[in-house]
Amino acid sequence: MHNIVRFGVSLEKEILERFDRLIKQRKYSTRSKAIEDLIRKEFVEDRWLTGKEIAGAIVFIYNHHKRNIANKIIDIQHDFGGIVISTQHVHLSNDECLEIIVVKGNPSKVKSLADSIRSIKGVEHCTVAFT
Ligand code: NI
Repeated sequence: MHNIVRFGVSLEKEILERFDRLIKQRKYSTRSKAIEDLIRKEFVEDRWLTGKEIAGAIVFIYNHHKRNIANKIIDIQHDFGGIVISTQHVHLSNDECLEIIVVKGNPSKVKSLADSIRSIKGVEHCTVAFT
């Protein structure tokens, strides 16, 4: 491995202890690897906010008995047709449905689609995973 740079980091003792417990749980072999992953995660998030194109998935759960909810969800997806790649629907229980919308495109449009879904009454736990 070339181009490895060592640098010192000053942290509060308690933060470092918590960090060490966390990385042990996540089975990291070294602090360096864990810190590298944290930094990379921030880069991905930065690109998500400032980049031209991202790919990801909007995942949410809703109660399909709520009046008109399925139609509202479909209407919104048609409004954002340019970024919606595919949708998967899972009937979780008698009441609840899980839906995954795979998206690709402008990050602010993806965010806007997720916000629109989240604002529908009856939609719960709407999260966005992106890469
Ligand atoms: Ni369903």
